[in-house]
Amino acid sequence: MKLLLATNNLHKVEEIRRKIARDDFELLTLKDLNFEIEVEEDKDTLEGNSLKKAFEIFQKTGYSTLADDTGLFVDALNGAPGVFSSRYAGENATYDDNCRKLLSELQGVPLEKRTASFITVICLVTDNNKHYFFEGKVEGIIKETKTGENGFGYDPLFIPAGFNKTYAEMNSEEKNQCSHRAKALEKFKNFLMTSNYDKQIS
Ligand code: IMP
Repeated sequence: MKLLLATNNLHKVEEIRRKIARDDFELLTLKDLNFEIEVEEDKDTLEGNSLKKAFEIFQKTGYSTLADDTGLFVDALNGAPGVFSSRYAGENATYDDNCRKLLSELQGVPLEKRTASFITVICLVTDNNKHYFFEGKVEGIIKETKTGENGFGYDPLFIPAGFNKTYAEMNSEEKNQCSHRAKALEKFKNFLMTSNYDKQIS
């Protein structure tokens, strides 16, 4: 059984592999197929972008494809950066640029009002007419300074509820037990088990 991960982000590939690796399951990446494709994320919802990515890559490769789209929704900023999380500080912004912009937008906002949610939507496309969505959401707060070296993106700023450290201070196993992506992947795993769908993926 083969499943293609529609991402070039090695952090994500690692998180997804750790979460859904199975002996009877071959997880392929675009790199494994020597496939270079950038799908423009121009929809205004996580569902829209994840479906677009999974569908375009399924059509080009013929493999059942799993794509994810994630956003950080900050309450004090009316949900920004949201679907624009990757380009919050501009088209070619680095993770660091985006974190700096977020800190500057939240300057002066007290800790109790720095609430936010990370949301991941994963889309599975298995043929031209079939797709499935799986959502994972984690609430937390945005710290006033970056802390921790692990992970990627906004990890050094996000403290998930119930913890007193950022995602970037967690090792990969810890993040993989509580993260937004992990929750979406759990739903995907349950879907495979309960629907017997794994027998049909190729
Ligand atoms: P993407 O479009 O799913 O790649 O996610 C958009 C942006 O959200 C990325 O460029 C990262 O900055 C951020 N992001 C996605 N997932 C995570 C995560 O697990 N931790 C921190 N930031 C993330």
